[in-house]
Amino acid sequence: MIVELTEEHLAVQQAARDFAQNELKPGVIERDSKMIHPTKYLRQMGELGLMGMMVSPKYGGGGMDSIAYVLAIEEISKVDNSCSVAMSINNSLICWGIETFGTEEQRQKYLPRLASGEIIGCFCLSEPEAGSDATMQRTTAIDMGDHYLLNGTKNWITNGGTAGLHIVIAQTDEGKGHRGINALIVEPDWDGVVIGAKEDKMGLRASDTHTLMYNDVKVPKHNRIGEDGFGFKFAMKVLAGGRIGIAAQALGIAQGAFELSLAYSKEREAFGKPISKHQAIAFKLADMATEIEASRLLVHRAAWLKDNHLDYVRAGAMAKVFASETAMKTTTEAVQVHGGYGFVKEYHVERLMRAAKITQIYEGTSEIQRIVISRSILKGDAYIPMNLPTIDDNDAEVNIMQSFEL
Ligand code: CAA
Repeated sequence: MIVELTEEHLAVQQAARDFAQNELKPGVIERDSKMIHPTKYLRQMGELGLMGMMVSPKYGGGGMDSIAYVLAIEEISKVDNSCSVAMSINNSLICWGIETFGTEEQRQKYLPRLASGEIIGCFCLSEPEAGSDATMQRTTAIDMGDHYLLNGTKNWITNGGTAGLHIVIAQTDEGKGHRGINALIVEPDWDGVVIGAKEDKMGLRASDTHTLMYNDVKVPKHNRIGEDGFGFKFAMKVLAGGRIGIAAQALGIAQGAFELSLAYSKEREAFGKPISKHQAIAFKLADMATEIEASRLLVHRAAWLKDNHLDYVRAGAMAKVFASETAMKTTTEAVQVHGGYGFVKEYHVERLMRAAKITQIYEGTSEIQRIVISRSILKGDAYIPMNLPTIDDNDAEVNIMQSFEL
């Protein structure tokens, strides 16, 4: 079954497309080259409702579904991936995490500001020695009664220099392994929060990626998300949804590169005809279009499962691994289709190729996605068809999942 798009979905898609093409595109090459943070544009995206799309209207959000969200991310990612990564993290890891697992006080205090784009959030899990092996947290949050004392260093933190809210994953009780980890909401102006160096990156150069240090930061107990020891599961749960957003980003990168290649190949002539009429180029376009369409089906399927409260962990991992590998292949071919022009900034495809690479790395590398997928298959998790009635009840979900074989 293909996800049917409603008029609201199409309107959101069009609004995101117009914003990306009219507002983001004109300065995107300069921002990327000079590492100029897109602060102004992220604020505008907040005003357009793109920074808290799935947040309930009672907390200032758009109250939309994940399908609307992936449609919008795809459009922004066709043009500016420094903006779309900030959008993805703010929507999936931060807003969804706080709304789903936070206290009412946390929701009321932080969500309206996050959803409006007044502040954006950053997600602080990775450390110098804990990337893929996320349980190996060295950052500590010592229980001091009414607060935690937070100490440690976080690496590769997207939005790290500009975020108005940090969700920090830290170890409270090492003896308990992953069950001793907590997720804490930290405000960047608290004593002991130090913003380290900004990374000079291969791609997404306008996005601000920093090392962050926490030196004896006092975090009130009421800023812990969920029960004591829930932090690792919190990280896994938000990342499972985050991976759908990154898959949509990769899809947008591939689609953007494909559209540019299609247009260029119709205009550029060689040996007396447009290069699109040479089979060597036409077949590249055919492969690009096929793999992009398959990526889109996987992305929409994962979003649909999430919207229907069905298990989307494996589907999200499949969408991410396939879409990010498609983005890498498609952008590489897009540069090839453009020939020498593809190798210069003005033609946009080299930037998309640099952006594609990180989608195979962040929010879980392709290798981590294959761990998630293979574990699910080997455990015997059922394939969930998409023609089921909408399910809200958790027990019914489990029964339906168990009743289908792979
Ligand atoms: N939902 C809920 N719980 C989950 C879960 C999920 N999706 N995945 C795992 N868990 C639970 C398990 O059930 C288990 O709990 P119990 O012991 O109670 O059963 C617990 O978490 C530990 O699970 P595992 O034993 O499977 O843990 P593991 O050590 O083998 O690691 C992993 C699993 C999937 C490899 C995980 O470590 C992982 O996802 N690593 C990658 C981390 C990552 O994505 N980092 C990205 C950084 S953030 C980022 O990039 C943001 C940015 O700025 C762009």
